[in-house]
Amino acid sequence: MKRGSAKTLEKEKGSEKIIALTVNGEDHLVPVEDRDTLLDVLRNRLSLTGAKEGCGTGECGSCTVLVDGKPVLACLTLAVGAVGKEITTIEGIAASGKLSPLQKAFIDHGAVQCGFCSSGMILSATALLSDNAKPSRQDIQKALEGNLCRCTGYNKIIEAIESVKDKK
Ligand code: FES
Ligand code: FES
Repeated sequence: MKRGSAKTLEKEKGSEKIIALTVNGEDHLVPVEDRDTLLDVLRNRLSLTGAKEGCGTGECGSCTVLVDGKPVLACLTLAVGAVGKEITTIEGIAASGKLSPLQKAFIDHGAVQCGFCSSGMILSATALLSDNAKPSRQDIQKALEGNLCRCTGYNKIIEAIESVKDKK
């Protein structure tokens, strides 16, 4: 469904309700229960599996998505709380299938190993660079402090982000 055709439509249906979520610029009508997390709905209802479930308790950042441009932990966010907001997942960063400069930099700098943390890292860094085009290394470390990586030791990730910032 194209965006704008539904806003906050809610239709009770048993314990489920239908809500309208705007994800990557498109509106979707989705059946949810009040307790469903945004992560569950993105992955299981909308087949957007880029956001990963690591801990499920707000510790690892692998589920990070952007809500109104700010990074949020989708495992701790209720889907019903995201109605009327712009949700961006990693699938929405690669416009028309073309990698964003940050995605390309992660590949070029070897910042993706197992890849489990990558979508969360890239979305946190995307939000940082949209707020601050020339972040310091400290700014980058702070922006990523909620995103854990078990593989890279972080240096390659930080170098990838710095390479994009240097081109701005
Ligand atoms: S899965 Fe959400 S913070 Fe780990
Ligand atoms: S690349 Fe494996 S957890 Fe970060």
